Amino acid sequence: MQGVVYWQPPESAMDKIEKIIREPIVSKYGSDDGLPELREALLEKLSRENKLTKSSVMVTAGANQAFVNLVLTLCDAGDSVVMFAPYYFNAYMSFQMTGVTDILVGGCDPKTLHPDVDWLEKVLKENEPIPKLVTVVNPGNPSGAFIPRPMLERISDLCKNAGAWLVVDNTYEYFMYDGMEHYCLEDAHIVNLFSFSKAYGMMGWRVGYIAFPNEADGFHDQLLKVQDNIPICASIIGQRLALYSLEAGPEWIKERVKDLVKNRALLVEALSPLGEDNVKGGEGAIYLWAKLPDSCSDDFEAVRWLANKHGVAVIPGSASGGPGYIRVSFGGLKEEDTRLAAERLRRGLQELVTDGMVQ
Ligand SMILES: Cc1ncc(COP(=O)(O)O)c(C=O)c1O
Repeated sequence: MQGVVYWQPPESAMDKIEKIIREPIVSKYGSDDGLPELREALLEKLSRENKLTKSSVMVTAGANQAFVNLVLTLCDAGDSVVMFAPYYFNAYMSFQMTGVTDILVGGCDPKTLHPDVDWLEKVLKENEPIPKLVTVVNPGNPSGAFIPRPMLERISDLCKNAGAWLVVDNTYEYFMYDGMEHYCLEDAHIVNLFSFSKAYGMMGWRVGYIAFPNEADGFHDQLLKVQDNIPICASIIGQRLALYSLEAGPEWIKERVKDLVKNRALLVEALSPLGEDNVKGGEGAIYLWAKLPDSCSDDFEAVRWLANKHGVAVIPGSASGGPGYIRVSFGGLKEEDTRLAAERLRRGLQELVTDGMVQ
């Protein structure tokens, strides 16, 4: 199923939205960069929570649009770029659709799902042309794996030395479990992306933002050009809701995220017919990443079969460069519904392992 959360935006923020819906300002264009009040609040949040103090901010219609903005700003058709499988499929498609077709896909450690940084070192030294941009999602979609700070620092240093940009998608910054803490890195070659979608249950309101280095010459001008040609500005009502939601703050989000560990446990158990070693990820974000039996060569077919015969929706790994795997989301349903979905998944996988895809 889609990567969503089951909760709605904060009630207090929704109440405020109801009151302003007819104000003329809501129906006009706003500043391309985002509402000044929201940008100010975001700069404060970036400094306080993410320790990003040398960044400027642009508000976008979600983190996906933010990523497209960056590809159009930083890359030209024919450039080479780097990502790691299993990758976030929309990032891959953003490259493809903008003519950046030389997409170098690195692997991950099969146990930890961490990116293969030795491979990256080699590619950044040897590939012609030198890749323009390296991107990671932390914690990851579709894996839910979390890249530890020393590893991301190494990736960052390699990018810096090679003259490549590092784009980090922090959509799941609040979705951390088991005592692990999210962090961001800041430098003149690093761009960080964020989203209101999952944190505040604001998927349909379409608000995200880019934190880009103050000191990068010409960066803002180019970014603004792209922004003015795609959304002009993120929807004003969405930006207002984002501003009011920030007042609820990280505690509001953490209150909801902490319960997702129960969903995760239910789904880990549901995936157990595949064998313990074949179920990975879930350190952060809202995903588990599981290997299908070797006998099951087509993950698309398995996903269709699970949906049609067992009434449960998962995502085929092939969509993320991981054939033979599935992505399972544990964010979209409340605990009782997750329990139901988990029962169906368990039954389906047990049948898959013992009898194959019997129709
Ligand atoms: C890694 C990642 N980035 C971006 C997005 C899209 O976020 P938004 O709704 O802010 O465009 C998603 C949604 O699933 C995601 O998983």
